[in-house]
Amino acid sequence: MQIHLELKPFISLETEALVTYVFDDNDGPQGRAAELDQATAGLLARLNKSGELTGKSLETTLIHSPAGLQAARLLLIGAGKRELFNAATLRKIAGVALRYLKSRSVHNFTLVVREGAGTEVNAQAIAEGFLTADFETDKYKTDRKKDKFIDAASIAGYSDAEKTAAEKGIARGRVIGEAQNFARDLVNEPSNKLTPRVLAEKAETMAKEAGLKIEVLDENKIADLKMGALLSVAQGSAEPPRMIVITYTPANPKPGAPVIGLVGKAVTFDTGGISIKPADGMEKMKYDMAGGATMIAIMRALAVLKPNVKVICVVPATENMPGGKAQKPGDIQTAMSGKTIEVLNTDAEGRLILADGVHYAKQLGATHLVDAATLTGAIVVALANVNVGVFGSDQAWTDKLLASAKEAGEKMWQLPMDDEYREFIKGSFADIQNIGSGKGGGSITGAWFIREFAGDTPWIHLDIAGTAWNDDAKPWLAKGPTGVALRTLVQLITSL
Ligand code: BES
Ligand code: ZN
Ligand code: ZN
Repeated sequence: MQIHLELKPFISLETEALVTYVFDDNDGPQGRAAELDQATAGLLARLNKSGELTGKSLETTLIHSPAGLQAARLLLIGAGKRELFNAATLRKIAGVALRYLKSRSVHNFTLVVREGAGTEVNAQAIAEGFLTADFETDKYKTDRKKDKFIDAASIAGYSDAEKTAAEKGIARGRVIGEAQNFARDLVNEPSNKLTPRVLAEKAETMAKEAGLKIEVLDENKIADLKMGALLSVAQGSAEPPRMIVITYTPANPKPGAPVIGLVGKAVTFDTGGISIKPADGMEKMKYDMAGGATMIAIMRALAVLKPNVKVICVVPATENMPGGKAQKPGDIQTAMSGKTIEVLNTDAEGRLILADGVHYAKQLGATHLVDAATLTGAIVVALANVNVGVFGSDQAWTDKLLASAKEAGEKMWQLPMDDEYREFIKGSFADIQNIGSGKGGGSITGAWFIREFAGDTPWIHLDIAGTAWNDDAKPWLAKGPTGVALRTLVQLITSL
């Protein structure tokens, strides 16, 4: 899909659909909406008066052959409250426009930004909105509708003076939107098509194309390095594990600068192991590698955006299966760090593989860590599918992430990490146990388990179990993988 900047006056644009947005304050057309109203002999005011156009958030009103315009259609999208309007609103509006028009077999359209909205961040958000909305999960459907596609989406409403900002925003938005879709494509793959080995191969292909350094550790190397926690999860499966390590090094690294370690959980299928999960809904556990996919995709974006900071991405990849060699409740494992772990529940496997991932990232030189994982069902209880759960050991580092999430338009919420919760995972027969002994706080004890391996290194954990998968389609996003956390982490790293 092409994304153009259109500098010609929007009234005279020949496009299959002209799209803009209106607010819910009902105080009559203003600014660019007034221009549009004038060109169409009072159409907006009439629609407003009849109650058909309210400006309610994401409401859509389609007019065919609007008199006074060269466009074949006019699509008006509700922008909600004027005072709450920001780049995140625009990202959604762009997505709604694309999916609404694509489903009606329109192939090109132009989105006009309103007066005062001609900024770089807005152009970036629109490009991201277009690209992420264009992503479909019908890859394996043989009857997918081949006539439903968008060729070109244009952005108008920018002045000549705003052209450079718009073009920069579009370029950055394209890199980020495409990276997010790359992550979603990996998450969408079923576990028979995406084993740990296949994930590693796909990461290798990406890294070669992007010019990134990559090393994939196979099961022998993993054993040589004594990654006992990762191996314990992998031992129940016929598929061997992989440890994927991708490195981005800036051209002129500053001596003493921070080195970011991104660690992502990649369980390509989580049956629960011997502590097996119920059948109902188990098919969804193909997305238990979303954290790893996100981290790999971030590296692809960084290779283009070239921030001046070194980033090491570490992705432990395995299946969690109940094979004859599977670990059993009560088994004691020794992690790469030397800590011993009593595995009381084999379904709490994400924290096990992250233990070795985090330790290895530190050994490779990471000074600041972020992990992302579909770690706990408990985070869905706490935050539903709305917010990513954020946990941190260093408030200054965590605050940077939370600020980046705001800028990237991703909802994230910090949860507490009091020492009391750490007591929950004190082991009876080993140093620590992989589930909490207390009642409740399941997401926090999971986070504490990982933190034991981060030690004094500033560390953030993102629990994306509730947000990495959309159970229902949204007007701006298909059902299925969301690629959550990618935009926030790209923002964090490029702002350092
Ligand atoms: N992959 C799951 C977490 C999960 C649950 C992700 C629901 C997405 C949706 C994880 O490995 C797991 O099974 N966690 C257990 C931990 C428990 C045994 C302490 C859980 O949340 O039930
Ligand atoms: Zn599990
Ligand atoms: Zn899992």
